[in-house]
Amino acid sequence: MNNIQAILFDEQTIAEKVLEIADRISRDYAGKELVLVCILKGAVVFTADLMRRLTLSVTVEFVQAASYGASTSSSRTITIKKDLDIDIKGRHVLLVDTIVDTGETLERLFWKFAEREPASLQAVALLDKKSRRTIGIPIAYGGFVIPDKFVVGYGMDCGEKYRNLPYIAVINSEP
Ligand code: IMP
Ligand code: MG
Repeated sequence: MNNIQAILFDEQTIAEKVLEIADRISRDYAGKELVLVCILKGAVVFTADLMRRLTLSVTVEFVQAASYGASTSSSRTITIKKDLDIDIKGRHVLLVDTIVDTGETLERLFWKFAEREPASLQAVALLDKKSRRTIGIPIAYGGFVIPDKFVVGYGMDCGEKYRNLPYIAVINSEP
């Protein structure tokens, strides 16, 4: 844990933001059934907290993307490593991610799912590195806008570690 530089958001701050986002979603989807799509692995913690704050009829699905090619180029290919278990045609679908960086992962998943003709399709992300965005993917529900620093915890990793931290911290990205 010696690479942790500073705590960016503590548990209380995260919990308050999650509740705020959940209230907006519950209001917008009132009377509808919602399919939450958790993007593995990073969104596991956020999805677990968010779903428990929603006052809606919710089902939860999981998707895992694998990306190939240069991490910042538009030639990067994203394939679905683990797909949904259900057909989302005619369903209200909300993609859940913890952090949006360039936006490419979310954008590619968004269009793959759009082809399946859901009744509606939106995205929620707790953290947004807005200055890094290369793609205009709309995030209907956003939490905190953060600077271009590498963060871990609350589901997010560095080399698969730190996902279990209950807070969000800035890490020294030097090995
Ligand atoms: P994008 O396709 O560039 O938006 O990358 C999004 C994915 O990269 C996220 O879902 C995370 O898995 C990962 N990621 C981006 N920034 C960070 C970070 O600061 N810490 C941990 N993971 C990150
Ligand atoms: Mg990662």
